[in-house]
Amino acid sequence: MKKIDRETVQRILDTAEIVDVVSDYVNLKRRGSSYLGLCPFHNERTPSFSVSKSKNICKCFSCGKGGSPVNFVMEIEQISYSEALRYLAKKYNIEIKEHEMTDEERERESERASLFAVNEFALSHFESNLYDTTDGKEIGLSYFYDRGLTDASIKKFHLGYAMEQSDDLLLAATGKGYNVKYLVDTGLCIRTDQGRVYDRFKGRVIFPVFSVSGKVIAFGGRTLKKDLAKYVNSPESLIYHKSNQLYGMYQAKPAIVKHDKCILVEGYMDVISMSQSGVENVVASSGTSLTEGQIRMIHRFTENVTVIYDGDAAGIKASLRGIDMLLAEGLNIKVLLLPDGDDPDSFSRKHTSSELEEYIKQNEVDFIQFKTGILLQGVENDPIARSKVIADIVRSIAVIPEQVTRNIYIKECSRRLEIDERVVSSEVNKQVKALAEKAAEKRLKKSGNDSVDKLENEEKADIEESTREKDLEAAIRNAENQSGTIQFLRPYEKGLLRYVLRYGMLDLCDSIDDTGNPVPVKVIDYIADELKIDDLTFVNADILSTFNEALNISKGDWETDRNRNDAQLMEKRSEYIANGEAQLRETETDIATIERKEKLIVENADRIFQEGKDSFAMLYIEKTLSSHPDSNIRDLTLELVADKHVLSKVHTKYAHIETDEERLGELVPRAIFEYKDAILECRIRKLHDDLRRVASSPTADPEEIRSLMEAHVQLQRLRGEFAKYLGERIINPRK
Ligand code: CTP
Ligand code: MN
Repeated sequence: MKKIDRETVQRILDTAEIVDVVSDYVNLKRRGSSYLGLCPFHNERTPSFSVSKSKNICKCFSCGKGGSPVNFVMEIEQISYSEALRYLAKKYNIEIKEHEMTDEERERESERASLFAVNEFALSHFESNLYDTTDGKEIGLSYFYDRGLTDASIKKFHLGYAMEQSDDLLLAATGKGYNVKYLVDTGLCIRTDQGRVYDRFKGRVIFPVFSVSGKVIAFGGRTLKKDLAKYVNSPESLIYHKSNQLYGMYQAKPAIVKHDKCILVEGYMDVISMSQSGVENVVASSGTSLTEGQIRMIHRFTENVTVIYDGDAAGIKASLRGIDMLLAEGLNIKVLLLPDGDDPDSFSRKHTSSELEEYIKQNEVDFIQFKTGILLQGVENDPIARSKVIADIVRSIAVIPEQVTRNIYIKECSRRLEIDERVVSSEVNKQVKALAEKAAEKRLKKSGNDSVDKLENEEKADIEESTREKDLEAAIRNAENQSGTIQFLRPYEKGLLRYVLRYGMLDLCDSIDDTGNPVPVKVIDYIADELKIDDLTFVNADILSTFNEALNISKGDWETDRNRNDAQLMEKRSEYIANGEAQLRETETDIATIERKEKLIVENADRIFQEGKDSFAMLYIEKTLSSHPDSNIRDLTLELVADKHVLSKVHTKYAHIETDEERLGELVPRAIFEYKDAILECRIRKLHDDLRRVASSPTADPEEIRSLMEAHVQLQRLRGEFAKYLGERIINPRK
């Protein structure tokens, strides 16, 4: 697929209207300032799916799904970001310029279309062979029946039959005008060196392979005889890259999303039999070991994977590498072993669908339990073998990208193997570092840096190595503290980011410039400056990257965009006044009344103008970020702008309801102080810890203790001052 140019992407994002997009799927009713309907992502009887026209987002307050128009389309159609953009472009008749396509590319595009077409023909040919020919019925169909398949399953997976005659498909296809070249390019036919062409699939039952979006891209043919290769498969082609495909994904997609889980098996028959038994969220890697492309495809639909292995030992050992790859992609892996001699196909035929479901639920185990079980078998009492197993598991844990998840498995591993959690943790941390260093080295090599840099890097690695050896204890403690700190600070950082996303472009207060004139300071700049003053950065990675993106946006074309918007609003204002006055002249005659009403019209027009300005500013950052290509940024933005409790409101003594927006001058500085206060608390806690450790050491250095205590006193004093600040009104709101 071609990349869509930036400008067009922006146009699509600007045009797509959430109420409009959602209405294609959900019956929406107006409810106050938003729209409400039944959530399309889960079953419900009372509507909790809310759509905000002004924010241009939707969200289910029950299951949490939703987002910008792009998100919604991605979720409901289960398609990628760029596919969703194309969907929206089509809906709004926005032309996606493909002009940068070269002739060569255009040729490939039409070649691809031809390959799909010929595959499509073969699919219907194989299917009609199965139902409409004697051999098809007597050999093919009866084979499927023998294996317990129902007509519905055969139809669902579009199974077929290839006739024994070696030019059956060739003749049928060329008779319909399909070019031999494409029959050969898809691999449906084979051309010998002598130039003779014949069918690849002969006298075999056919399992078509579909792409995620349901296009036939390849075929597998199973022999019904004993002597031949069991399966013949389509070769790689312009439209088929085996390593990026999973058999059954197209059919399994909705069930995977519904159960938020994907079951991974080996073969065609395993998929079909399980699906027939009611476990439909199942796909096959088709006998080869898993690839990154396949794993990423699963990840598009769920984070939870259960891998099913049949009981034979060779397969299991080979599968362990696949598990590490799944872990490295950040997926949650469970493993299910079937009773000896059974594969998913035979097992699901022997059991009812509820038995099958129950068996999976009862017997799937996490990968640590699985690995320890497999690897410890027979060597439980051999300490050397045991430590090897531990090292192996530690290596698996270390590839998991998320610290939080790693910690869960560290606990699990220590419990299961009865080793001190801190030992496991320190081993894992060592591995994580080693992996990171290796990755860095690789990058370094790739970028071809000169030897000086390399040397420096090696030195750095050496120093790190030695400090690691010297004080392993402290390093673990530190690592633990750090992840605690990150969690502790998260709500504060989120709070600040919320102000940035919602009100970032609004003016908060004035500062004085070099010439002594007041210049307005925006909320986002105020926050950025406050962080800079104390040399702080957000410690939560997703919050930091979202904040940085917001900063980029605020530094971008804001002035031009705003001026353009102002001009439009100004025009609307004049129109509004002109219309009002025209009407007045028709309906009123009394000069005094006209003058009074005229004044009202102008006031109204000014109010509308100001509201338009404010809402433009308020939406400026969140609009772009809620459609950001990085899902972390997108999700966080949506979470922070789509609160159920839209604004906290305060009743003043004038019975006027103040909104967050009006109180920014008070709220934002307060949030900053609270954040800094929380950081202080973390630092004090750490000092406490250090003090305790140093004081209890037999070789305690009194000088070190003294300086730690001094630092402690200072931090406490600072906190006291903060407390005083937090109790007062901090700055005067801007008039
Ligand atoms: N496979 C293949 N080529 C082979 C053998 C296997 O492509 N020569 C792939 C197929 O996708 C097959 C999967 O590996 O579905 C698993 O192989 P196997 O367990 O042997 O096949 P089953 O699908 O279980 O076939 P059956 O039960 O009909 O023997
Ligand atoms: Mn089988």
